[in-house]
Amino acid sequence: MDPKNAARKRIAVIPGDGIGKEVIPQAVKAIQATGAAVELTDFDWGADRYLRDQTTVPPDGFATLARDFNAILVGAFGDPRVKTNIHAKEILLGMRFKMDLYANVRPVRLLDAALCPLKGVEPKDVDFVVLRENTEGAYTDAGGVFKQGTADEIATQEDINTRKGVERIIRYAFEYCRMHTKLDGSPRGKVLMSDKSNAMTHAGGLWQRVFKEVSAEYPAITAQHMYVDALCMQMVRDPRQFDVIVTNNMFGDIITDLAAGLQGGLGMAVSGNIHPGKTSMFEPVHGSAPPIAGKNEANPFGAILTAAMMLRHLEFTQEADRIEAAVLEAVRQKKTTRDIGGSVGTREAGEWIVGRLSS
Ligand code: NAD
Ligand code: IPM
Ligand code: MN
Repeated sequence: MDPKNAARKRIAVIPGDGIGKEVIPQAVKAIQATGAAVELTDFDWGADRYLRDQTTVPPDGFATLARDFNAILVGAFGDPRVKTNIHAKEILLGMRFKMDLYANVRPVRLLDAALCPLKGVEPKDVDFVVLRENTEGAYTDAGGVFKQGTADEIATQEDINTRKGVERIIRYAFEYCRMHTKLDGSPRGKVLMSDKSNAMTHAGGLWQRVFKEVSAEYPAITAQHMYVDALCMQMVRDPRQFDVIVTNNMFGDIITDLAAGLQGGLGMAVSGNIHPGKTSMFEPVHGSAPPIAGKNEANPFGAILTAAMMLRHLEFTQEADRIEAAVLEAVRQKKTTRDIGGSVGTREAGEWIVGRLSS
C-alpha cells in the first residue's frame, strides 16, 4: 500500500541544529497531545551527522521523503563548527529546490498587542502573508569565483528568474488571496508584488510583465506594486495596509525577518514550503541561534505554531485550531520565554501547551 495513504498521516521530523533540537521536540509533544492520527519518524540530518560521517543528505533522502511521507517538520540548520554551511545548503535548500517546494508561505500575525514593538498596533492590524518564491532567484548558486584570493578576484552570483517560476508563484498568490480569509473572517482582496525593478531591470521586467498578465485574470482582486525598499518602510510604519505580498526568494527572506519583528520576534514566525499535491515542508522562520542553543531559552512557539500550520495543511483542522488557541492563551497568561516577555524556559513553555491541550 502507498505509505502516504495509511490510516495515520506520516510526518518526517528533522530537528537539525542548535535550537532546532530544542524547539522541535516541543512541537512534537504538542502534535501528540492533540491526538492527531499521525506517525512521526525522526531524521538525524544536520551538523552532528555531517561532522560524524560527512553525510548531509543520505542517498535517496529526498526521494524517500517525497515517497513515504505526507509532510516534513524541520527545525533549523546552521552550526559554527561547519563554516561552509554546506549541510544547511544541501539539506534545507536541497529540500526546497529538489522537491520543488516553490511557495514559501509565511503568514504574519500578531497574537497580542504587547508583542508588537509598534505603538497602537492591535492583533487585527497585523494579518498578512508573504509568499516567497522558493526555488530560484539569487539562491540557485549560479555564478562562481575567479582568481580567488588575489587582488583581481571576481565573484558573481546570478539572479535566476524563469518565466515558469515567476508565473507559478504569482498565480499562487492570487489563488491564495481568493481562497483564504483574514483571521476575522473577512475576505482577502489585495495582492502586492514587491521587487526592485527600478534597478534590476531584467528580472524586474519579467516580474512586472507576468504580474500584469496574471492579475488581469483576477479582476476581483486588487493588484498593487511596491519597491521592496519602500515596502520595508511601510511595514513598520503601517502594517495594516498589507494583505497578500508576493516577492522573490531573497527579498522574501529579508522582509519575513522584518515581519517577524512585528509578531514579537523570530521566535514567533512560522512558514510552510509548499508545492500543492506534493510532500511539503514546514519550519519556523528562525535559524539555529547558536548563542542561545542548549540553554533552554529558545521560544518554542514558532515551531509549535508551525506544527499547527502543518496539521492544517494535512486537514487536521480542529487539532490545528486547538494548538493555536493554546499558544494564544500562553501568550495572554505570559507562560512564555523571555524573548516575548515571560520567564519560563523552552521545555516549560512547551509543557504548558501540552497541559492545556490535554485538559
Ligand atoms: P537566527 O534566527 O538563528 O537568530 C537571530 C536572532 O533571533 C538571535 O538573536 C536569536 O537568539 C534570536 N532567535 C531566533 N530564534 C529564536 C527563538 N526561537 N527564541 C528566541 N530567540 C530567537 O539567525 P542568525 O543568527 O542569523 O543565524 C544563526 C544560524 O542559523 C546561521 O547558521 C544561519 O545560517 C542559520 N539559519 C537557519 C535557518 C533555517 O534553517 N531555516 C534560518 C535562519 C538562519
Ligand atoms: C530562512 C533562512 C534560509 C534562507 C538560510 C538559512 C539559507 O534564512 O529560511 O529564512 O535564506 O532561506
Ligand atoms: Mn531567513
